[in-house]
Amino acid sequence: MKKVRVRAALKDISEYKPGRWVEGAIKLSSNENPLGPSPKAVEAVIRCAKLISRYPEAHSSLDGCGCEHELIQELSKWLGVAPENIVLGAGVDGVLDTLVKLFVESGDEAIIPIPTFSLYETLVRLCGGVPRFLQRDERRNFEVAAADVVANASEKTKLVFLGSPNNPTGDVIAEAELRAILETLPSSMIVVDEAYVEFAERSFVPLVREYENLVVTRTFSKAFGLAGLRVGYAVMDEDIAKEYKKAAIPFSVNILGIAAALAALQDEEHLRRTVSLVKTERAFFIKNIPFRTFPSHANFVLVDVSPFTSKQAFEFLVRRGVVVRDCSSFRGAGTSFIRISIGTHEQNLKVIDALSSLVGSLRRA
Ligand SMILES: Cc1ncc(COP(=O)(O)O)c(C=O)c1O
Repeated sequence: MKKVRVRAALKDISEYKPGRWVEGAIKLSSNENPLGPSPKAVEAVIRCAKLISRYPEAHSSLDGCGCEHELIQELSKWLGVAPENIVLGAGVDGVLDTLVKLFVESGDEAIIPIPTFSLYETLVRLCGGVPRFLQRDERRNFEVAAADVVANASEKTKLVFLGSPNNPTGDVIAEAELRAILETLPSSMIVVDEAYVEFAERSFVPLVREYENLVVTRTFSKAFGLAGLRVGYAVMDEDIAKEYKKAAIPFSVNILGIAAALAALQDEEHLRRTVSLVKTERAFFIKNIPFRTFPSHANFVLVDVSPFTSKQAFEFLVRRGVVVRDCSSFRGAGTSFIRISIGTHEQNLKVIDALSSLVGSLRRA
């Protein structure tokens, strides 16, 4: 028996399971950019590598490699919101970590419609909070209804997490439902996680001007192809942004991340090509996958592989050189869903071919 004990909350927390990678296989398990990063971002990282002995500067651009202030200014132009409303973090993961610390005390509650990104639950539990899970309804394509959220709320509800598009289901929240939640729960912070929003039709960032209880989190990891550099940001009420800056870990966005994010924002052509490829391929994928799929507004598709289990499908696909995400580790996802990231046309053909062989194995059995 160890003399030093970790916090009791850890007994209910599991280690984050990232999408797997198998040597030599096509990796479609982590929703990364099929085109890779912008060449301009790669060039910026190489050019700025000589600065890595320095701490990132908050206010003055280091040798043309940027600083936090500059990235916030550029994001402000990009998003059409004031710089005072924007904060940075080490990916959305880092942003969420700080946000949860701002709002959740022991015994507070957070509403989490499931299945969804597992970090929401982990962070709430780490702060001594209690997750209130709300099962999303498969028959409604997993879309969240305001009435269900409100019915689960109490005066202890500090946070509501709404992935939009949600991982792994790919659905977005309807504006009317979001407005109803924001208006009915004015003393809860509503976190709309827009990690995949570039692949969707619209963002809820403009609503931050209307609702002080709305936070929208975004990232450079997905459509901008910078997952390895960990750059995220959020848009929120100006006063809450000031509190966020007190709680955030200093220097959480590093020099190379800042330089690459600034370069990636300039390369609109790369972003346009990425989004257009994903949208075209997503439609192709959904049309050709020989299993039930759900509508997706993200760069992945949720597939119900019944009568196979997700584990069987996952292993079958690995043997064919493709790694996807077995969703059985997502709370509330059951045992028959896999999530497949949209790849290049060639990669997607390979997945469709492999899934057709899986169906074929059923006919032969
Ligand atoms: C819904 C959602 N939010 C946030 C993240 C993490 O994003 P980041 O790489 O910016 O930390 C992911 C990554 O898979 C995600 O699916």
